[in-house]
Amino acid sequence: MITEETLQKRIGELAAQMNIDLKGKNVVCLGILNGAFLFAADIFRKLEIPARISFVKLASYQGTKSSGTIKELIGWNEEIKGTTVVVIEDIVDTGHTLERIMAELTMREAAEIKIATAFFKPDAYKSKIPLDYVGFEIPNDFVVGYGLDYDGYGRNIPSIYTLIH
Ligand code: IMP
Ligand code: MG
Repeated sequence: MITEETLQKRIGELAAQMNIDLKGKNVVCLGILNGAFLFAADIFRKLEIPARISFVKLASYQGTKSSGTIKELIGWNEEIKGTTVVVIEDIVDTGHTLERIMAELTMREAAEIKIATAFFKPDAYKSKIPLDYVGFEIPNDFVVGYGLDYDGYGRNIPSIYTLIH
């Protein structure tokens, strides 16, 4: 669906925009595990501004259907208060995960919250939270590759594939 080359080119564009927008800010990138580990690494290595990175784990998925409930929340060892947090997500689907992370970041008194996601499914989105950096808008189909999994597998596929049942 999306080749490795196209992915990497787009990530370069997002990072370039971040380098402009986030200059002079106290930046903490917050990658959402597991899915965002590759996107977080790729975007972070292209940042040319002082920035920290940390990861939290929040999962709402089993198989190909969102359970709608968040099962896990671990991490949060970085000082968030007063910082500009850049949430780095692999994919924003319903937005449930994002809502949960936003609530937590607000509680932890982040000064500013930016959202970066490699992929976004606008037709599935139920939230009103604006997304600041979107790699690709995709149809409401299940995709694998580039960190995204199907029951734990497929994360190491460098391009994005649509799963056909
Ligand atoms: P949301 O909470 O419904 O927005 O779902 C976000 C999470 O669901 C992502 O971080 C992914 O882990 C997972 N997810 C949503 N869509 C897909 C997909 O097409 N492929 C793999 N994982 C997905
Ligand atoms: Mg995930």
